[in-house]
Amino acid sequence: MTQGIRTPVYAKAEFFNPGGSVKDRIGVAMIEAAEREGRLRPGGVIVEATSGNTGVGLAIAAAVKGYRCIFTMPDKMSQEKARLLRALGAEVIITPTAVPPDHPDNYIVKGRAIAAAHQNAIFADQHYNPVNPEVHYRTTGPEIWEQTAGRVTHFVCAPGTGGTVSGAGRYLKERNPKIRVIAGDPVGSIYTQYAKTKQQTEGYPYKVEGIGGDKIPTSLHWDVIDEWISVTDKDAILMTRRVAREEGLFVGGSTGVNVVAALEVARRAGGTDALVVTVLCDTGERYLSKVYNDEWLRENQILETERVAVAQLLAAKNGSAAPPLVSVAPSATVRQALNLMSTYNVSQLPVLDSGDGVGAVFEQLLMARALEDPATLDQPVEDVMDPPFPVVDADLPVDRLSALLSRETPAALVRRDGKIAGIVTRYDVLHQLAGIR
Ligand SMILES: Cc1ncc(COP(=O)(O)O)c(C=O)c1O
Repeated sequence: MTQGIRTPVYAKAEFFNPGGSVKDRIGVAMIEAAEREGRLRPGGVIVEATSGNTGVGLAIAAAVKGYRCIFTMPDKMSQEKARLLRALGAEVIITPTAVPPDHPDNYIVKGRAIAAAHQNAIFADQHYNPVNPEVHYRTTGPEIWEQTAGRVTHFVCAPGTGGTVSGAGRYLKERNPKIRVIAGDPVGSIYTQYAKTKQQTEGYPYKVEGIGGDKIPTSLHWDVIDEWISVTDKDAILMTRRVAREEGLFVGGSTGVNVVAALEVARRAGGTDALVVTVLCDTGERYLSKVYNDEWLRENQILETERVAVAQLLAAKNGSAAPPLVSVAPSATVRQALNLMSTYNVSQLPVLDSGDGVGAVFEQLLMARALEDPATLDQPVEDVMDPPFPVVDADLPVDRLSALLSRETPAALVRRDGKIAGIVTRYDVLHQLAGIR
């Protein structure tokens, strides 16, 4: 995927952690800090508002240490994540995503309330817990420094709570103040705007999980971040799928944001002196029903339904008995027009004059006139014709053609390379929709 980019791009494969995500680091760290401070004693309860991965990190440590876990999780999160937490023995409470950050049903507000209602309970509070960035300062940062032998020049990481980018970023800058820290951010998150203006705006929902935010967490250290890159859901998710297919790295959607941003940074850095590091946040197994599900992508307008063009409708008619365009001249008689329609088994004909549509005739209307007055049969078509069919370009998508056709306008002429190349009817559109060839 880095073809054509001279700057090497490395990624820290956090999906290799035992719980499958970068969050394993903070799970055990937050529990052990609470134990040290005497806030959590044997038999205690760990409560957290989590998009899933922090829950897994906490649940693994809690299972080993014998604590009970209760997690609140927004309903946009994958089913797989909730199931995984339950598999690890946790209780999961699903909350609505589309509520303001101060609403009692907001997953963080609710988590806090649950912790307050229990004895010997902690709210792990990853968004406001200093242990979160601190553990990345102690582990992730030094690992990146050592694993790149100090050659890292750019660290690209999209913040959720901000723990990873803040902790690892701060450590790296302390080792080499020239290192630039770049944050990817989903479009809809308020972070990028806040970084610019320090004004808290209202975000809007997006599909990528685990990163971005609609509130300002203290785990996110703004001073560490030099630059923000906004990434759309579509770009992030399509990139995530490329990472799996082209690199064999099976990752989640937040990694897509990181990779889009990292490739942009590497492209700009230009030289082989630079070395970009980003993070592969979690395993793709958690997103089989979403990022890796074409149906879900189509429902969310991320994967476009293949657009069939009018030209393909014309091509599909090639096998039929009639040539692509049967037409009559304005001077032809009604009798000749009716004969043509009968020969080719069509119920309407365009009237063409020097290649231009000047009118249209319909079998039913001509027959009705001829029955009323047989002399009509010998009249020229131009005396009895209706207005011409509309003309469309061959590359017009079929859905746009369907919108144009009606009972009154049952067909359209197709123009290709400036010439009328054929006719498409409501029947042709219907056949295409119904998958009849
Ligand atoms: C899938 C995923 N990616 C990235 C992150 C972001 O990490 P951090 O919270 O350290 O900023 C998270 C955090 O929840 C996550 O779940």
